[in-house]
Amino acid sequence: MSQNILVPLDGSRSALRALEHACLMQRADGGTLHLLHIVEPPVALDHMGAQTGSTPVDYTPAQGHEEGESLLRKAWAQVGSPSAEVHFHVEDNPPGRPERTIVMLARELDIDTIVMGSRGLSDLKGLVVGSVSHKVSHVAHCTVITLHVPDPVADDSATP
Ligand SMILES: Nc1ncnc2c1ncn2[C@@H]1O[C@H](COP(=O)(O)OP(=O)(O)OP(=O)(O)O)[C@@H](O)[C@H]1O
Ligand SMILES: [Mg+2]
Repeated sequence: MSQNILVPLDGSRSALRALEHACLMQRADGGTLHLLHIVEPPVALDHMGAQTGSTPVDYTPAQGHEEGESLLRKAWAQVGSPSAEVHFHVEDNPPGRPERTIVMLARELDIDTIVMGSRGLSDLKGLVVGSVSHKVSHVAHCTVITLHVPDPVADDSATP
C-alpha cells in the first residue's frame, strides 16, 4: 500500500531514528515522505544564565527558517533514501505547542502515518515519552508510530 508518511524532526537522535524507520516503510510499500521541522525560537539568557522568557535580540524568524531547512536537509542526507519522493516543511510555532502544527499538517497533507521520536531535545530524563509525542499520539487522525532510543547510561543500570 502506497502511503503518505510524516516525520517531525527536532534534531534529536530519537527523531533521526524515526526517519530511518519511515524510510524503511517507504522502501517496502512506496509512497511519499514529508519531513517537518517546527521553528521554536531560542530563549534569551540573562547574565546569570537564567532564561528571560524573550528571544535573543539578534534572532530573526528568517534565521529560524534557514536553520530548520538545513536541519531537515542534513537529516535527509544522513539517512534518507535517494530514490524516495520527499518534501520538506518548515513551519512557525503558533501559540501553543508543536503538536498542534504536526496534527494540522497531517490532516492537510492527508497523512496515513506519523513516525516520530518518543523523546526530543529536553533533558527530562525521568520521562519516558515527551509531551509532543504524547499529545500527537492522542489527537492525530491517523496512525502514530513513536521510536524510542534508549539512553546508553540508563541502559547500563537497567535490570534485565
Ligand atoms: N519543534 C519540533 N519540530 C518537529 N518535530 C518535533 C519538534 N519537537 C518535537 N518534535 C517531535 O516530537 C518527538 C518527541 O519530542 P518531545 O518534544 O515530545 O520530547 P522532549 O523534547 O523530550 O520533551 P518536552 O519537549 O515535552 O519537554 C521528537 O523526536 C520529534 O519527532
Ligand atoms: Mg521537545
